[in-house]
This record gives sequence, structure tokens and C-alpha cells, in this order.
Amino acid sequence: MEATSMIETEYNDEYDAYEAMMNRGAFLRKLRQMAEEDEAHRDVVVLPVLSSSKDVEITVDHDTLCYHSYLSVQAVYDDYKHVNYRQIDFGIVGDSPLVIAQDRTVGKGGFVWDSGYILAEHVARVTEWQTGSPSVVELGAGTGVTGLFVGRQVPQAQVHLTDLPQLLPLMEKNSSTSKNVTAGVLEWGRNVSGQEYDVILGADVVASIYDSYGLAKTIYDLSHERTKIYLACKDRLSGSIEDFEGQMKNMFEHVGRSKPNSSNNNPKVWIFEISGKRVTQ
Ligand SMILES: C[S@@+](CC[C@H](N)C(=O)[O-])C[C@H]1O[C@@H](n2cnc3c(N)ncnc32)[C@H](O)[C@@H]1O
Repeated sequence: MEATSMIETEYNDEYDAYEAMMNRGAFLRKLRQMAEEDEAHRDVVVLPVLSSSKDVEITVDHDTLCYHSYLSVQAVYDDYKHVNYRQIDFGIVGDSPLVIAQDRTVGKGGFVWDSGYILAEHVARVTEWQTGSPSVVELGAGTGVTGLFVGRQVPQAQVHLTDLPQLLPLMEKNSSTSKNVTAGVLEWGRNVSGQEYDVILGADVVASIYDSYGLAKTIYDLSHERTKIYLACKDRLSGSIEDFEGQMKNMFEHVGRSKPNSSNNNPKVWIFEISGKRVTQ
């Protein structure tokens, strides 16, 4: 029905208020249906962002977020902003597409955090650890975004994603297409004797809600004297990060903070770079 037909009816001598009302109802239903059809064919939607009154335009294919479109308009820095997407498409990473599934029902690890991507890009751009075939472990990997990205960018590395048991199915699903990435359960603070890695990664794992003593112990236990450790941290309430930093300084010679080298501009994220395990004689 066209908009003019209803207006003409209202100025007709035989104007019928009931019929006009019914026509208007049909008219509005038609408009709504057209809007829905239009929406279904759009590839750009405006997402309401939880922490801000601003909206962000992001290219999506219904339930897939194109991460590069998101980065190109990145204006707010709430880690929950893309929590509802079934998967995130990172485009070609290394020599093949990287699409990561999310599942918010499994907890905070079920979706990609800004720190995870920032650490991934940062570590892939640091060359000091990339000689030979380094063994890499990611702690609190969640979806596995950091380890998966690093595994694609540095194919000679062997990467192991770890997290709590409820994250295992998601890590396995996301690593199933990467030849050099495996997944397993590793709860911080538990015995990991016999395992050592050349590189240890962790994104957004230092926080007051998590066991930072267990995390520090696990990092120490998994290290050898040349292990390089990269942890992406986000400024939150003070206290937990400083406590953790103090523990790290007791266990390692070099504990520094650096600015991330990443196309994700979240201003609150920075990197701990740690090395030089202190070995008691
Ligand atoms: C904020 S999420 C970050 C996830 C992922 N690194 C990222 O950046 O997208 C923190 C992760 O730490 C994991 N975690 C928390 N406590 C843990 C523990 N005691 N042992 C192992 N993993 C833990 C959570 O399950 C979660 O996956």
C-alpha cells in the first residue's frame, strides 16, 4: 500500500473512520515488514554499545563480526561490545582465514577481549622470540584468540592454548583448523612439573577476581631461564596488578611495562614483558 492512498481516503466524501483506522494499521504493518526485509539484506548495522551513548557502525554478516570493520571505527572500549556475535572474522592471518567462535555461556573466556587481540599483534611483531621452533603456551586463553593468531603468524612455533575445563570445547573447536595449535586444561597454581615453554602468553588474566598467586606460580613453574613472558593487562582498580608485579619481580630479573604495538587502540591496555627466571641454588 502506498502512503498517498490513505491520505486520499481521509479526504473522500464517504470517509469512514473505522476503515481509515484499519487501513492505517495495514499501512504501518507493511512499513514494518519492509523495514525488516531491508534490515535482513543490510550488511551494515548500528550496534548499541553498552557502555556508551554512542553507536558504532560495524560490518556484520548477521552473526559474524568483521573485526577489521570494527577496528576502523573503534571508538569505545567495552570488552562486552561484541559478546553476542557467534563468531569473529579476523580476515587472512598468515596464509589463511582466521574465524574464531564465541560462546558467552561458558563465562568470561567465551568471547574475545581487546587485550587478547592486542597481545596477539604485539607478540607477532616482536621478533626476539621467533628463532628456531619455539614452544608457546597461552594461559587463560578463552577463545584462544592470542595463541591462534600467533600460531598463524609464526608457523614454526608450536602453540598450546590452556584454560579452565569449561573452555576446553571452545578452544578445541577454534584450534581444529590450525596444524601447530593444541588445547588443554591448565588451572593456575596446580602442579605442572615437567612442562617448560620458551614463550608464555596471557591476555587480561591479571585481575582481582582471578587467582594471581596461582598465576604467578604457574608462570614461574612453566619457565626456563630463557623463557620470554608477555602479558597484556588492562588498567582496572589498582592493587591486583601491582601485587602481581611485585611477585614477578621476586621471581624474574626483568619485569617491564611496554606500550602495545597493535592496530587496536584501546588506551587502557599495556604489556608486561618479563624474562630472566631467578633460579635458587
Ligand atoms: C578476561 S578472560 C580473557 C580471555 C582471553 N585471554 C582474551 O583475552 O580474550 C580471562 C580468562 O582467564 C581464565 N581463568 C581465570 N581464572 C583461571 C584459573 N584459575 N586457571 C586458568 N584459567 C583461568 C578464564 O577462564 C578466562 O578465559
